[in-house]
Amino acid sequence: MTRSISRVADPFELRGGVLHCEDVPLPEIAASVGTPVYIYSSLAMRDHARALREALSGLGDPLIAYAVKANPNAAVIATLGAEGLGADIVSGGELARALAAGIPADKIVFSGVGKTREEMGQALEAGICQFNLESGAEAELLSEVATALGREARAGFRVNPGVEPGTHAKISTGAAESKFGIQASEALAEYAKAAALPGLRMQGIAVHIGSQLTSLAPFEQAFATVGALIAELRIAGHDITLADLGGGLGVRYDPAPPAPPSPADYGAMVERLTRGWDVRLVFEPGRFLVANAGVLLTEVIRVKPGVTHPFVIVDAAMNDLMRPTLYDAWHAIEAVRPSGRRITTNVVGPVCETGDTFALAREMDAVEAGDLVVFRSAGAYAATMASTYNSRPLTPEVLVDGDKWAIIRPRIDVARLIAGDVIPEWLAHD
Ligand code: LLP
Repeated sequence: MTRSISRVADPFELRGGVLHCEDVPLPEIAASVGTPVYIYSSLAMRDHARALREALSGLGDPLIAYAVKANPNAAVIATLGAEGLGADIVSGGELARALAAGIPADKIVFSGVGKTREEMGQALEAGICQFNLESGAEAELLSEVATALGREARAGFRVNPGVEPGTHAKISTGAAESKFGIQASEALAEYAKAAALPGLRMQGIAVHIGSQLTSLAPFEQAFATVGALIAELRIAGHDITLADLGGGLGVRYDPAPPAPPSPADYGAMVERLTRGWDVRLVFEPGRFLVANAGVLLTEVIRVKPGVTHPFVIVDAAMNDLMRPTLYDAWHAIEAVRPSGRRITTNVVGPVCETGDTFALAREMDAVEAGDLVVFRSAGAYAATMASTYNSRPLTPEVLVDGDKWAIIRPRIDVARLIAGDVIPEWLAHD
């Protein structure tokens, strides 16, 4: 079945030669907050959530649990929560953030390979929807914690389907040798053991094979494994009522082809693969919802000549946006007031590492010292992975909604960074 999916409009557009986020000119935010600064569009997040919901609407009443790790700012979680989304969490910190942002506990699923006793206790007390267990040992610990608290833990195993997702090795999670999940071949034995433990209700099954997938084939392979396992588990007497198909749908970073699958194609594929499963489906999208809802706004400090290409030195660095140095990620770089002139240049930050390079030999708008520039697709895995390396202030975040905007995390300045350090008494000077 094909259905029309509302097009997600780009909230970052040139108006009168100046890049805006929705109705707000970016220079207005730079003048008020300074640079570098992350800027998110509420409209884009809502659009992405709606597009996905529409694409999955043929699947009954699926739970779309936003993978909080992509962008855990409370205002971002609240924006998506207002669209009816739940949360996929991987830590006690993310549980606290999701609850604080108003996500109901029964819309929260807990993933992750190293859940601790404390984290399990917090999630049980909150009454979350499901624990996605990643080992038999984790099932035993959860049983112990649940029994001690007099609660029942709703759980499923995350199964590793042994699929190569064709994404960057550092964000691939479903290959046979990966640290995640239990092997599909061990599932029946592990479920049998877990189902015999007190305090556990083995109601579900989960899979997540990686992030930024640009083809549907690996998803299909993984979901086929899950479908076969559901049938086998039922024959073995397990009452499986929930299947969590994870996240991973890729987004467009580079306008050049290949384009990632559309939500409609993803939805149609899921519909085909899950026909007859008779379960509630859960999805854990992160990047799809927020990546293209954000930019990192930065100012050019200076342009310096290079042997092959000049260096555009911006005031954002690898500590603010780790993805290029960590995953060789490509982010579009655009001038906020493009002149129409183009240059080929290297774009770097001020940090003292060669890895602090955003782009090499990039053809882009010509820029000079003092010009504003954006890194696009910076709404996911960007602000949340920032650090203060080189004693650089922690980058602030701004949320735009129409012509309104607000600082949703202020800059953590150097005075506050230093105030966090403690000089022991034997080193103190007066
Ligand atoms: N569920 C689980 C269990 C996950 O581990 C992840 C992402 C997701 C859902 C959400 O995946 P998404 O829909 O966002 O692809 N820092 C890397 C990405 C790491 C992804 C980790 N897990 C990056 O910047 O590309």
